[in-house]
Amino acid sequence: MSTLEIKDLHVSVATDDGAKEILKGVDLTVRTGETHAIMGPNGSGKSTLAYAVAGHPKYEITSGSVTLDGQDILEMTVDERARAGLFLAMQYPVEVPGVSMSNFLRSAATAVRGEAPKLRTWVKEVKGAMSDLDIASDFAERSVNEGFSGGEKKRHEVLQLALLKPKFAVLDETDSGLDVDALRVVSEGVNRYRAGGETGVLLITHYTRILQHITPDRVHVFAGGRVVESGGPELADELEKNGYVRFTGGKAEAAV
Ligand SMILES: Nc1ncnc2c1ncn2[C@@H]1O[C@H](COP(=O)(O)OP(=O)(O)OP(=O)(O)O)[C@@H](O)[C@H]1O
Ligand SMILES: [Mg+2]
Repeated sequence: MSTLEIKDLHVSVATDDGAKEILKGVDLTVRTGETHAIMGPNGSGKSTLAYAVAGHPKYEITSGSVTLDGQDILEMTVDERARAGLFLAMQYPVEVPGVSMSNFLRSAATAVRGEAPKLRTWVKEVKGAMSDLDIASDFAERSVNEGFSGGEKKRHEVLQLALLKPKFAVLDETDSGLDVDALRVVSEGVNRYRAGGETGVLLITHYTRILQHITPDRVHVFAGGRVVESGGPELADELEKNGYVRFTGGKAEAAV
C-alpha cells in the first residue's frame, strides 16, 4: 500500500499585486485502494491544489509538505513526480501542436517505465485502450489535444491513465463537458484503472453525477483554500441539495 500525504499545505501565486495566498493549510491523506472526491465552489483552490502537487512552476509552496510513502515530492522535478507514480489530468488540457498522440503517449510511457515499450506490444496496448474508450483510431496521428472537443480531451486524459498506470491520479473535473454516453465511457475507464491494481484517485468535481459511476470512499469539501469538512459519499448528496452556503456563509468564494 502507498500513501499520498498532504500536510498543512500553503501555496501562493504571483500576481501583479504581489504574491497571493490561495491554499491556506490543506490536509489530505489518500491511500492506494481509495478514491477521494473533492468538491467545492468555483475559485476555492481545487485546481491550484492539483497543480501544486503536480509541480506547476507558477505555484509557490510557502509551507507544508506533500509526501509519497514518506518521500518528499516537493523536492522532485515534474518528471520525477511522474516516475514516482503521480498523474494529473488537468481541468483544461493543453494543446501540443506538432506532436502526435501516439508519439506523446510512447514518450510518456518510456519516461514513466524507464524504458521504451516494445513496439509490437505497445501498438496492441494503445489500440486496446483506445477502443475501450471509444476513441477512433485516427486520433493517434492527430496533434495532442489540438482541435479536440472538450469531451475528446477528457477521454484522452483517461487514455493516458490506462497506459501509464500511475499510483495516484488527480483528476480535475474529468466529467466537465461530457455528454451522458461519454461520462459513462470515461467513468468506466477510471473504474478499470481503479480495478487494475493498487491505485489511489483524487477526483475533483462539481457534480454528483460522476460519483454515481465512480463511488468515492471519502468526500471532502474545499472552501477558502482548505478542506473544511470530510465525510462519506452521503456528504456529496448533501452538497447537491444544499450547496456550499454553510461553508462560505453565502459569500462568493473570491470575496472569502
Ligand atoms: N495565476 C494566477 N493568478 C492570479 N490568480 C490566480 C492564479 N491562479 C489561480 N488564481 C486564483 O486562485 C483562486 C483559486 O483558483 P482555482 O483555479 O484553484 O479554483 P478552483 O477551485 O479550481 O475553481 P473552479 O471550480 O472554477 O475550477 C481563484 O480565485 C483564482 O483566480
Ligand atoms: Mg478548477
